[in-house]
Amino acid sequence: IAYIIICLLFGYIFGCFNTGFVIGKLYNVDIRQYGSKSSGTTNALRTLGAKAGLLTLLGDMLKAIIPILLVRHIIFPDSEYVKLLILYTGLGVVLGHNYPAWMKFKGGKGIAATAGAMASFDPWLIPIGLPIFVISVAITRYVSVGSLLISLLFPIWIAVRYPGEIHMLLVALIYTILAFIKHRSNIKRLLNGTENKLGQRVKIDN
Ligand code: G3P
Repeated sequence: IAYIIICLLFGYIFGCFNTGFVIGKLYNVDIRQYGSKSSGTTNALRTLGAKAGLLTLLGDMLKAIIPILLVRHIIFPDSEYVKLLILYTGLGVVLGHNYPAWMKFKGGKGIAATAGAMASFDPWLIPIGLPIFVISVAITRYVSVGSLLISLLFPIWIAVRYPGEIHMLLVALIYTILAFIKHRSNIKRLLNGTENKLGQRVKIDN
């Protein structure tokens, strides 16, 4: 239990670094006031452009990958529960990203962080998850559809690869639940056909 709490907190601290928000500040904008009001990659792309979107994606993925590598190789390398601890570290990152204490708990939707956690949990998820994301977004033009599919892939993958590991499955399911909670407004827009399409830019007034 103590290890789990350490990993959650450790991840949370990394997660609080909201790349999109920080880059927005460099442009003198709080991207949470524009577009979907999220501080994540998609909204950085929408409000600040492709370069900022890409940097946000990289930063938000790295902030999951770095603490997970530290937990795996330096902090708890010998723990028999290292896979579980990796999941908790990534979960802490997603929570920090979605609910950052220093930003009045208003952050992003945690998908880049989830993708970083998935990729560092098991690199096989890259060649599986990336095409699912790219193809679903290319077909629908909705990033949120790809995001939700990616978040569903994680528990499915764990159920298949680690049958019987209920604890790991439950933690992976929390990632999915968090993604769906954060995408509530996207889901509503998808259902009534008003979701923002990829490539739509938002004007910022400063
Ligand atoms: O990863 C976030 C994406 O799925 C949706 O972002 O800004 O369109 O709500 P946004």
